[in-house]
Order: sequence, then structure tokens, then C-alpha cells
Amino acid sequence: MAKVLVTGGAGYIGSHTLVDLIDHGHAVVSIDNYLNSDPSVYQSVEKITNSKIDYEDVDLKSMPDLKRVFEEHTFDAVIHFAALKSVGDSVENPLSYYENNIAGMVNLLKCLVEYGVENFIFSSSCSVYGNADELPVVESTPIGSAESPYARTKQIGEQIIADVSVAHPDIRFCVLRYFNPAGAHPSILIGESARNKANNLVPVITETAIGKRAALHVFGDNYDTRDGTCIRDYIHVMDLAHAHTLAVEYLIREKPQSIATFNLGSGTGSTVLEVIKTFEQVADQKLNFKMVDRRPGDVEAVYADYSLAKELLGWSPQLDLKDIMRTAWAWEQHRSK
Ligand code: NAD
Ligand code: WQD
Repeated sequence: MAKVLVTGGAGYIGSHTLVDLIDHGHAVVSIDNYLNSDPSVYQSVEKITNSKIDYEDVDLKSMPDLKRVFEEHTFDAVIHFAALKSVGDSVENPLSYYENNIAGMVNLLKCLVEYGVENFIFSSSCSVYGNADELPVVESTPIGSAESPYARTKQIGEQIIADVSVAHPDIRFCVLRYFNPAGAHPSILIGESARNKANNLVPVITETAIGKRAALHVFGDNYDTRDGTCIRDYIHVMDLAHAHTLAVEYLIREKPQSIATFNLGSGTGSTVLEVIKTFEQVADQKLNFKMVDRRPGDVEAVYADYSLAKELLGWSPQLDLKDIMRTAWAWEQHRSK
């Protein structure tokens, strides 16, 4: 059993990871400043897991508050989710992204060094690859040019880890590059419930279907793909959450000497039109959508080779695109009641 600090535990992926960690016998402490979430999420996590969650309102930018958490607990590992994540917002407010995502992470790493915590897991993103020349992308695929300040914070985060791992070889690092997380816990007690307006495809689909939006705009139908729309790799949030538990266990068990970087995707690329079609099948209704111009900064196609995570973590996705759309739709109907 490990004691794990989860930053951003009230958020979308963080809350599902709390559930998975607890389900696998680990102890958790969560910190969040509710910039993009609500503390009521913890009650839902408690209901699902039937256990009390130790959580605190802490902003990573406040070093005294952060230090207090490390004074109060002895952690075996830290999973670092807390970050701002909207690509469009980051273009308009780059300094908030650098302050929150970079300065917050530096504070956290200072605490790891000061308090002797040995294992650190970082939420990175497939956006670090940019427009890759070869698909599927493997972990050694060159880092591309960042399409946004948000994506750049993930690249810088990975570089900070590379430097800190040299200076502090006693700390073990795992970098998890998520592809496109979607879906919700099967209980429908937790799901994606950001304070900020959703811009990602799956929530935009469910919001359109429920009537919160008039129509889904499909950004571009003239890409060089099988139906002209962009290809992405959608991964169920439950599968993603479980990878974090496996990563904690891997770092503690194997004590890897170098940074362990893993792609976390399904390995399957789906076009926007295929995602819409899957939604229409599982929800048994037609979706109102129309083709519009390309969205600036979109890569044409990206999907993962996850064989390294399979080999070293023993991880492979258990849920598919239908499960994603089914749970995302059930979650939308539940939260819109
Ligand atoms: P989220 O916004 O739902 O969760 C992030 C949580 O961090 C929120 O609860 C927010 O309130 C909190 N937070 C932000 N800044 C904070 C700070 N300074 N101090 C304390 N708490 C703070 O996002 P998510 O989708 O769960 O993403 C989690 C992580 O995964 C992020 O680092 C994100 O960049 C990364 N990621 C997400 C996706 C995705 O599509 N969801 C894809 C790749 C990577
Ligand atoms: C998916 C596809 C759109 C909305 C972003 C970040 C990435 C990661 C995941 C955090 C694209 C199309 C979308 C819509 C559409 N996040 N689309 N109409 O762009 O792959 O990745 O979120 O780390 O870093 O860049 O995800 O869900 O926005 O888009 O046609 O209203 O759906 O063009 O092809 P994306 P997405």
C-alpha cells in the first residue's frame, strides 16, 4: 500500500484516479484549488469507494500551503494533475498558463526534494508530439513544435523533469502522455464537469445532443484522412486512471534509473465523423452537425503506440469508443437533470 498525494484530484482525470487508487488499496491525499472543479466531487468519490477522502484546498502557487501538506504527511508518491488545460484560453492568457503550470510544478518539485519524496508522476499530453511524421507515435517520436502555450507548458514540464532527474537521481519520474481522454465512471457519479466551457469533441457532442448547443461544428472535412476529418485516439478515463495506479506501483517496485515515459492511448485512430457515428449508434439518435472551416492549430492525425505501457506497466485499455460514448452520454443526461 502506497500513500499518494494527488494534485488536481477534484478534476476530471484526478477524481477517476482517486477511485482507482483506493480500489487498489492505496491511501490518497488530494489537493486542489477548484479553479476548474468543485469540492463536491469528493463526496461522489467517497460514495463510489465507500471511504473517506483526505482533501485540502491548496493552490500549488502558494509554497507555504504546499509545504504544510508535506509537513503533515509522508508520501510514497506524488501524481501531478493540477494544471490549466484549455488550448484556446492559453493563447489568450499565456502568462496564467506559465504561472500556474510551470511555477506550480516547480513549487511541487521543490517540496519533493525538501521532504524526500521518491516518486513523481506527471500528466503530459500527446500534444507534445505536434504534427508527427510517422504514425502511430512511439515515445521516441521527436517532440514537435508546440501548437499553443498550453502544449508548451507540457513540453517545458517534461524538460524540467529531465533536468531535476539529473540533479536528484534519488527521485524516480514517470511521464504519462495522454491522448484524448473521454467518458465517465460507470456509476455516473463522476465525469467531466469543468467550470470552463467544454471545447473537446466528446463533451461538445453530448452537449449538442442534450440541447445545450444548437449544432456541432466539425472543424474541417478536407484533411488527408479516410473521410476528410481529423483522426484522434480516444481513451476511456477509467483506463487512463488505472494506468496511474500501475505507474505508482511500477516506480516503487522497479525503481527505474531513467525517466519512464509512456503513451496512454487506445492505439486506434478515429475520425471526427466516426466518433459522431458511434455516438449516434449508442444514443440511438441523430446528431445535428455541420462542416465548418479547419480549427487553427489542429494536427491532422495522431494516435498512440502503447506497447511500452503494455510491456512495462502491464497496462492495456479495456474499454472502447462505444463505452466512451455510452458513459459520456449517460453522464451528460445525469448532470443535465
Ligand atoms: P481538470 O481541469 O479537470 O483537472 C485539473 C485540476 O487541477 C482541477 O480540479 C483544477 O481546479 C486543479 N488545479 C489547477 N491549477 C491548480 C493549482 N494551481 N493548484 C491546485 N489545483 C489546481 O483537467 P483534467 O482533464 O483532469 O487534466 C488533468 C491533467 O491532465 C492536466 O495536467 C492536463 O493538462 C492533463 N491532460 C489532460 C488532457 C485532457 O484532455 N483532459 C489531455 C492530456 C493531458
Ligand atoms: C478532437 C477532434 C477537432 C471540437 C486537445 C488538446 C490536447 C489534449 C486533448 C489536454 C479534432 C474536432 C472538436 C468541436 C470538432 N488536452 N472537433 N468540433 O484537439 O485533439 O486535443 O484536447 O492536454 O492537448 O490539444 O481534442 O477534443 O478538442 O478535438 O470538429 O467542436 O475533434 O478538430 O479533430 P484535441 P479535441
